[in-house]
Amino acid sequence: MASYIVFLGPPGAGKGTQAKILAQSTGLPHVSTGDIFRENISQQTELGRLAQQYTEKGELVPDDVTIGMIRERLRRPDCEKGAILDGFPRTLAQAEALDRLLDEFGSRVNLVPFIQVDDETLVARLSGRWTCRAAGHIFHEQFNPPARPGVCDFDGSELYQRKDDRADTVRHRIQVYRQNTAPLVEYYRQKGVLFELDGTEPIETVTKVLLAALEGIN
Ligand code: AP5
Repeated sequence: MASYIVFLGPPGAGKGTQAKILAQSTGLPHVSTGDIFRENISQQTELGRLAQQYTEKGELVPDDVTIGMIRERLRRPDCEKGAILDGFPRTLAQAEALDRLLDEFGSRVNLVPFIQVDDETLVARLSGRWTCRAAGHIFHEQFNPPARPGVCDFDGSELYQRKDDRADTVRHRIQVYRQNTAPLVEYYRQKGVLFELDGTEPIETVTKVLLAALEGIN
């Protein structure tokens, strides 16, 4: 059976950072709805123009658009053995749609790492985050600095700061998370797949704990 891992946690908890590391160590594709939206926004596709109206304000892109996009993405051949989902689902309707889709595949969500971090740390992390243009590699000017400021260690591309990482937008994103996404913690706890993690630990420590949890599902 394929393995589907769903990262849950507030903006800046470290979902993208850990999902990328796990994708490398498991060979499963990293599927980030935020990355897909940002790619479409930079290419100014129809989806990108629509998503931009929401992402820049820290609002959620409507469920029908996001669910349609994920259904298409998870049907691609590279997801045959599963996927590491980062930023999806974010609402109850999205979680139920994911369950229905995986049911069609004869599969289910296997593990939901829930990364917890206090609000003050989240704001500090996002205001210092730098992301690479070419592949979305993530750095932090203080907690995880690149070897050369402004340059990605992995592919040499330019590092940029996301528009939605302004302090006021970050605070709004945290509110949107509490209202729409936090209820999913209970949803997955009841299914017995929730795995709670202290996201204030250093990146390497969080990775170690996660890899140990993953062994349990294989
Ligand atoms: P998205 O891109 O998913 O943003 P997010 O959920 O707000 O999460 P972030 O990417 O901000 O944080 P992260 O947890 O990945 O943290 P990271 O690893 O980068 O979504 C953006 C927007 O798209 C949404 O607001 C919405 O509009 C739209 N959207 C996306 N999905 C959607 C959906 N399903 N439905 C509707 N709309 C959707 O780490 C943050 C920083 O901290 C980095 O600098 C990193 O280096 C550092 N760091 C990480 N871990 C640690 C650590 N342990 N110690 C110290 N520093 C650390």
